[in-house]
Amino acid sequence: MEVIIQPDQAAAARLVAQIISRVLRANPPLVMGLATGGTMEHVYQELVRLHKSEGLDFSECCTFNLDEYVGLAASNPNSYRHYMERHLFQNVNIRAAKTHLPDGMAVDLDAECARYEALIRQCGGIDLQLLGLGKAGHIGFNEPLSALRSRTRVKALTPTTLKQNAPFFGGEQKVPRRAITMGVGTIIEARRCLLLATGSSKANILARAVEGPITSMVSASALQLHPRCTVVVDEDAAAELTETEYYRWIFANEPEWQEFH
Ligand code: F6R
Repeated sequence: MEVIIQPDQAAAARLVAQIISRVLRANPPLVMGLATGGTMEHVYQELVRLHKSEGLDFSECCTFNLDEYVGLAASNPNSYRHYMERHLFQNVNIRAAKTHLPDGMAVDLDAECARYEALIRQCGGIDLQLLGLGKAGHIGFNEPLSALRSRTRVKALTPTTLKQNAPFFGGEQKVPRRAITMGVGTIIEARRCLLLATGSSKANILARAVEGPITSMVSASALQLHPRCTVVVDEDAAAELTETEYYRWIFANEPEWQEFH
């Protein structure tokens, strides 16, 4: 795992977008795993800017989102399909048929989860998985005690997550109780993982995920098992990390990161 500390939220989101852009330009038929949430809005804003002003081309890529709420139709403004359309898909030249999210309205949810896993496999697996970090330590909606080998399935959301997502719904009571999410096992099969966490509210859980023991109580800690995982944070989210001097040295000196300074 590599940790990159940026001065603020805008710089962190910009760096994540630049990394995605470099990977996409090198491999246009990229299979991208996408996340939603407040943190990612800034990344998508930057990707849209790169598309409009620097010709970043999405026409050959294919996307799989991590999760979708159970019971929300694509037309519901709070569905993750709607979020993706609004923040990215409608603003770049991606082909609609190549954008995938689990169907939270499926009659048979287990069959839908199996279909989603099969589709990811059919497309050759995920090349680059974008991840946010929940206050409960989740990636996707893999709440505490999610099996580290779990696959796409329905998860009940924890009170911490209901509270975290309440502002998007105008109240905790309105947040759906369940979601379909890729499993921790599904996520760490991606060839590369890129996690973005910003803000002081993520500082404690980020330190536990990155520097703490691997535990199903913090599903993001499973990323420590991943051979190619980059974690981008701002100073606020980095506040409780202990090895920051080393992380800063790596970013300043390793050849891979020179073009991003
Ligand atoms: C959403 C998702 C979640 C979020 C996480 C952070 O698709 O998978 O894991 O990335 O809850 O959300 P924000 O950015 O709103 O703090």
